[in-house]
Amino acid sequence: MKPGMSLMKHYLQFKDLRAEEYAYLFERARVIKQRFKNYEKYQPLVDRTLAMIFEKASTRTRVSFEAGMYQMGGSVVHLTTGDSQLGRAEPIEDSARVISRMVDIVMIRTFEQTKIERFAAHSRVPVINGLTNEFHPCQILADLFTYLEHRAPLNAKGYDLDCLKGKVVAWVGDGNNMANTWLQAAEILGFTVHVSTPGGYEVDASVAGISNSNCYKVFKDPVEACRGAHLVTTDVWTSMGYEAENEARLKAFADWCVDAEMMAQAQPDALFMHCLPAHRGEEVTADVIDGPQSVVWDEAENRMHVQKALMEYLSLGRIG
Ligand code: CP
Ligand code: NVA
Repeated sequence: MKPGMSLMKHYLQFKDLRAEEYAYLFERARVIKQRFKNYEKYQPLVDRTLAMIFEKASTRTRVSFEAGMYQMGGSVVHLTTGDSQLGRAEPIEDSARVISRMVDIVMIRTFEQTKIERFAAHSRVPVINGLTNEFHPCQILADLFTYLEHRAPLNAKGYDLDCLKGKVVAWVGDGNNMANTWLQAAEILGFTVHVSTPGGYEVDASVAGISNSNCYKVFKDPVEACRGAHLVTTDVWTSMGYEAENEARLKAFADWCVDAEMMAQAQPDALFMHCLPAHRGEEVTADVIDGPQSVVWDEAENRMHVQKALMEYLSLGRIG
């Protein structure tokens, strides 16, 4: 930690940072991305080590954190439940005490949010949530950056976050970790989420950790939820850890497939996002995810750029 940086910060939920910190991070992500695209070396984290702990599968999170850390001059240690003592019941608190004495920053993908909170409570270094059952803050960080890149005016200080105020994001599908994180982002950044889920899969404001219920509206009909939306987004019907419910979910979610009819209700220039991996023909049709309004590949790439900005911020504080 840089001298003078008094409080160590973790990133366990989207609401762990304030709107002004997001404005800073999005600008850093823009600059860092530009350097990457220009093949300019930028290595502020030389000699720093990131430990990545995966208790669930991953493609994007693994590659984006690992490649990002190497690009910034650091190195990475990759741990899974199966190849570490985590899978043999070593207490999470003990794992945190040990791992955080040897590395400079930790990223964890796990099951219950309480697990990452217990790890963070015993960690000497910043901890980042790489997905839990309840939240996926790094993904929403990338999604918002992607929206800004495509739709926000760029001024001297960076993308104008005020352009998010009053916007509508349509969430179609499961009231899951992604949905919860969208609600937190809406509360902080001043937009509204139109949420449509099948009965029994609703979002719960107390699990989402929001205090202002005005940041979202619930719709029974997913087509109605998309009306006037600036962004339409969805996710798999069965998240990791819920595989036993797959059959029941396939039936319950049949009408929650984002298709051309739903997109036609949204603003004519609405974007489509999906955190990926996607199942074409389930939560989204191929013509939507592979169509002109979809920005899913930018969204995936931007995971790396925003996380580089996040690791820089949690490790070194504000630059300049
Ligand atoms: N979107 C996302 O987190 O992808 P992975 O599960 O591949 O990491
Ligand atoms: N909601 C999904 C997101 C995958 C990136 C899951 O938790 O499996």
